[in-house]
Amino acid sequence: MPLNNGLKIFTGSSNPALTAAVCEYLGVSLGRAEIDKFPDGEKVIRVEDDVRGKDCFVVQSTCRPVDEHLVELLIYLDCLRRASAKRITAVIPYFGYARQDRKDEGRVPITAKLAANIITTAGASRVLTIDLHAQQLQGFFDIPVDHLTGELVLSKYFKDKKIDKLTVVSPDVGNMKTASKYASHLGGDLAIVHKRRVSGSEVQAREIIGEVDGRNVLMCDDIIATAGTVCSAAKLVKERGAEKIYVGATHGVFAGEALNRLGDAPIDEVVVTDTIPQNGESSKLHNIKVLTVSAMLGEAIKRIHKNESVSSLFEDF
Ligand code: R5P
Repeated sequence: MPLNNGLKIFTGSSNPALTAAVCEYLGVSLGRAEIDKFPDGEKVIRVEDDVRGKDCFVVQSTCRPVDEHLVELLIYLDCLRRASAKRITAVIPYFGYARQDRKDEGRVPITAKLAANIITTAGASRVLTIDLHAQQLQGFFDIPVDHLTGELVLSKYFKDKKIDKLTVVSPDVGNMKTASKYASHLGGDLAIVHKRRVSGSEVQAREIIGEVDGRNVLMCDDIIATAGTVCSAAKLVKERGAEKIYVGATHGVFAGEALNRLGDAPIDEVVVTDTIPQNGESSKLHNIKVLTVSAMLGEAIKRIHKNESVSSLFEDF
């Protein structure tokens, strides 16, 4: 089936550069739409291409400003649904609110579930996303979810670096399974940091299980938000004798004190992907490297459009 036959890709305003790169990978032109604001700030979207009976994909990360990008996605979905699109896939490279996924104290919401509900209600037939913080978040959507991982892109980058004396360090216990996959893929040892979260932005790395003395360390995580997790882990492994320290994470949220902390931490390189655009303050970090997920997303979109397997993308990892 030729890709141009019935495939339409639209972009929200969160990450147009990534959408453009996806379109380039697929060899299709970007769907035409106008995103505007009424004088009172209300968003208005008008899709200018005919989408009746078409297989539509809307690319929108719900990154900062989170609520504005989320609402924009909802309006886009509603617009395409009312314009009789045959199938609408919400492509959400970074899904904000993912970490609010449980009621761990009284009288708090489960906003990840709320966000999943409203995306479905607005008109999404399926979701394509990357590293949802926890695999089980897929179950928050009652529509098909294709869940990709930035590990494919990050691990290739670090493999090509051929880091010797490598120890992969999980900066917290929750990330151990991912770290262990990296260790076996890259051929390194494994270590785990025991962390204690003091508050939303303060983290204490307390102990390391495993050897880092004289080793080059790769720390991998799904998300760097305030950078408390990776920076306190980096300080601890440095104190314990680590040589080079690399950090790899799919989503560079970089909130609050993150950039100052990363600038001061004993980290040689911070590698993130472009699920969230990094063309603002973060691009000034001297040791940041941004990898693109565009080919992975493009390939997944192609396979969804052609009703082919998406999971086989991960067979090598
Ligand atoms: C924790 O479960 C996550 O995998 C990340 O380690 C965490 O969300 C990072 O947050 P921060 O950068 O604020 O420490």
